[in-house]
Amino acid sequence: MKFFVDTADVAEIRSLVGTGFLDGVTTNPSLIAKSGRKMSEVIAEICALTDGPVSAEVTATDHETMLKEGRYLRGIASNVCVKVPLTEAGLRTCKVLSEEGTPVNVTLCFSANQALLAAKAGATFISPFVGRLDDIGQDGMGLIADVVQIYKNYAFKTEVLVASIRHPVHVLQSAKLGAHVGTMPPAVIRGLMKHPLTDRGLEAFLADWAKTGQSIL
Ligand code: E4P
Repeated sequence: MKFFVDTADVAEIRSLVGTGFLDGVTTNPSLIAKSGRKMSEVIAEICALTDGPVSAEVTATDHETMLKEGRYLRGIASNVCVKVPLTEAGLRTCKVLSEEGTPVNVTLCFSANQALLAAKAGATFISPFVGRLDDIGQDGMGLIADVVQIYKNYAFKTEVLVASIRHPVHVLQSAKLGAHVGTMPPAVIRGLMKHPLTDRGLEAFLADWAKTGQSIL
């Protein structure tokens, strides 16, 4: 399973690069707004930090302008993945960009039928939002199970990118279901490393080691 970080905070991304488990980055207009920076500059900086796909989202709602924005964003760096919303215009744009060889991430997916349409439009990634479904009392992970199964049934190449991940259990469940990718905030990625028994064990090892008076080097 690939791990993407969902942020436009360049310092956070820089600190995760080199850990060996960061495979890409996703952003959205809200995250770019939060960064307070010009989108093209932030995306260029992020793309220089990683070879993995960096999702940059269009903000137009009509097909023609989405296409222009998508081509512009793709021109920023060769690892830009254009993100489009799951609307009719977004799917049309996905089809054209995909045929041109541009990877497309179809976002704001909340149903398995939407995911089916994105795969038919040639999407590289489909982003079902689990946390936002959970927030309204629906079963986010149930959607992931459905999409994984449907894509398998028809051997679609579109990868299931679990989005709106809020906690480590979402990551565990996504991995068990065979989702290809999970995108999550930096805090969730860091949370995956933590276990109280790891901390307690290390503390005891180091206390015992100190008593020996030895040093390895
Ligand atoms: C993914 O591409 C989205 O940017 C993200 O996962 C949305 O997460 P949120 O629902 O926590 O805002």
